[in-house]
Amino acid sequence: MAAVVLNKVGKKYPNGFHAIPSIDLDIKDGEFIVLVGPSGCGKSTLLRMVAGLETISDGELSINGTRMNEREPAERDIAMVFQSYALYPHMSVAGNMGYGLKNRGVDKEVIEQKVNDVAAMLDLSHLLDRKPKQLSGGQRQRVAMGRAMVRDPQVFLFDEPLSNLDAKLRVQMRVEIRQLQRKLGTTTLYVTHDQVEAMTLADRLVVLNQGHAEQVGSPLDLYERPATPFVAAFIGSPAMNLFSAHLQQNKLILGQNESIMLECDHSFEGQVVWGIRPEHLEVTETEGDFKMRVKAVESLGAETLIYGAIEGVNEEVVLRLSGPHQPEINSNIELNAPQDKWHLFDANTQQRL
Ligand SMILES: Nc1ncnc2c1ncn2[C@@H]1O[C@H](COP(=O)(O)OP(=O)(O)OP(=O)(O)O)[C@@H](O)[C@H]1O
Ligand SMILES: [Mg+2]
Repeated sequence: MAAVVLNKVGKKYPNGFHAIPSIDLDIKDGEFIVLVGPSGCGKSTLLRMVAGLETISDGELSINGTRMNEREPAERDIAMVFQSYALYPHMSVAGNMGYGLKNRGVDKEVIEQKVNDVAAMLDLSHLLDRKPKQLSGGQRQRVAMGRAMVRDPQVFLFDEPLSNLDAKLRVQMRVEIRQLQRKLGTTTLYVTHDQVEAMTLADRLVVLNQGHAEQVGSPLDLYERPATPFVAAFIGSPAMNLFSAHLQQNKLILGQNESIMLECDHSFEGQVVWGIRPEHLEVTETEGDFKMRVKAVESLGAETLIYGAIEGVNEEVVLRLSGPHQPEINSNIELNAPQDKWHLFDANTQQRL
């Protein structure tokens, strides 16, 4: 078990590209940290620096108080699981799982015991003699995890480990990973593009934007109080509705001709980004805060997503309702936007108001 601390860690690639300017992250012993962010924001780079597969250009990485920058990957006591499982095709499941220990000269009996224990935990006991090609995708992924677990490392690193699996297996593995991590108490850094994985796995989420940590906090913190429009747009699916608007004399004004004007008890004056989540807009039978013209409807069974445009201003808007609904295309829906569900950001500083 281990605390992992990144102190002003930066990465400049040999071609001069500054993938990570400077990042601070204080990961507690046993914590499950999930890294999210758009493609190319530096998630894999960060993980690979922690693993020792990339050099660290600036700052310090320490594990349990010991500086790791110059340590070889094998000396860091870290196990990494990738999107591609990279199992040895000619070795059995047991051989794959025990390979790392065998390489280190661990006794055969000890390896066998460890492999058996971990296989039992991952429900792989009956598959130990098979070759990887005789396994399903989910079973292969479990072997890759098992290989990481038998080493009993101080830290787990996962880089989109479930993205090759089908939807049902992903759910199953997601639940298993969380339970195993709780049971083992191993400090974990996990990269994913999947909103549900991010929200359900993380003790704390890190939203990366062009190599810097835009916000760090519990999943619900980030959902309820995003610090910037970037985080607001990134956390939640479908994304939060964000509009450029103006605050003036306790009014929120939307559109060129002041076509929408809402009462607002915020004292800020000036340009803002105004946000409201699709699930927080309320349909009303009487005249609402604004009208939405329906352009497309997605019926998902348990919920319905309605896409449209706000009448009078040229802005797209998404509405999320529970249960089935079938509004006509081009019909109008009156909507209320309750103020206690608003998110307001200063348009200049991009900071939450
Ligand atoms: N060896 C390299 N040399 C130069 N630039 C690189 C190198 N490897 C990655 N980069 C760049 O660094 C940035 C971060 O890459 P990284 O792979 O960490 O992104 P990522 O967040 O993992 O993206 P994805 O979600 O697509 O996996 C990208 O702009 C990428 O092009
Ligand atoms: Mg990546």
